[in-house]
Amino acid sequence: MSPDSVDDTPGRGGHVAVAIDGPAASGKSSTAQWVAAELGFRHVDSGALYRATTAAALRSGVPPAEWTAAFLLTQAARVSLAPNETSFTPQVDGESVTEEIRRPDVTRGVPHVAQVPAVRTWVNAQVRAVARSHDVVCDGRDMGTAVFPDADLKVFLVADPWERARRRLIQRLSRGPTEEEIAEETDRLVQRDAADVTQTVQAKDAVLIDTTYLTQAEQVERIVALVRAARLRRPLTPWEGLPLVPPPADGSID
Ligand code: DC
Repeated sequence: MSPDSVDDTPGRGGHVAVAIDGPAASGKSSTAQWVAAELGFRHVDSGALYRATTAAALRSGVPPAEWTAAFLLTQAARVSLAPNETSFTPQVDGESVTEEIRRPDVTRGVPHVAQVPAVRTWVNAQVRAVARSHDVVCDGRDMGTAVFPDADLKVFLVADPWERARRRLIQRLSRGPTEEEIAEETDRLVQRDAADVTQTVQAKDAVLIDTTYLTQAEQVERIVALVRAARLRRPLTPWEGLPLVPPPADGSID
């Protein structure tokens, strides 16, 4: 996808966009994937575009210390999103990088790449372009602010760092982690939060969901219900929002 060839004009031609933002390991991607499946929408993982650009840069052999904005834009032009049944597969030079973008060297390099304004503009254009032809659930850090200020629904997911670390380790290790492992992972997550803090923004009109004590099924159920409600949104009649029970005639309230 060359940076010049993307249709980034405003509007989505009637397509629905749901924005799910939040810090690392808040469960955004898996929740977004599941919500999209429930609604028959496509899931778009914006972080995968930053990661694929980083993977392309690493493949080039140029040391990270020499990565300039112009160089990273050239690498971004090698990245594409190939539609699959439920979402989009990130590719570099037409080859899937689904596994490669989760490698530790990509995870280490990506916060730097994600700070580059030209790369951010490029990623945002790709995500908007996809949303012009599909109903989407997009997850990231700034979907509800920079990318879709007019999203049909915005959700900001948060969870206690210890719980985020615990979930991430269970996913990675496929076993119960020790307290020491959770403590180390919590430190790493807090550092990552700090690296991404400038772009991790909760939109004023986002629904905040703290998932610390929720199962994934519960999170998904809430968001799906919110999307359905948001799609039914209409101007209130003069009577809506008034108390259901009339106040006592003498005006006393107890
Ligand atoms: O969510 P993730 O770990 O895949 O994100 C990878 C990196 O990209 C991370 O440093 C945060 C950054 N990112 C961002 O700045 N804006 C987004 N919309 C998505 C991800």
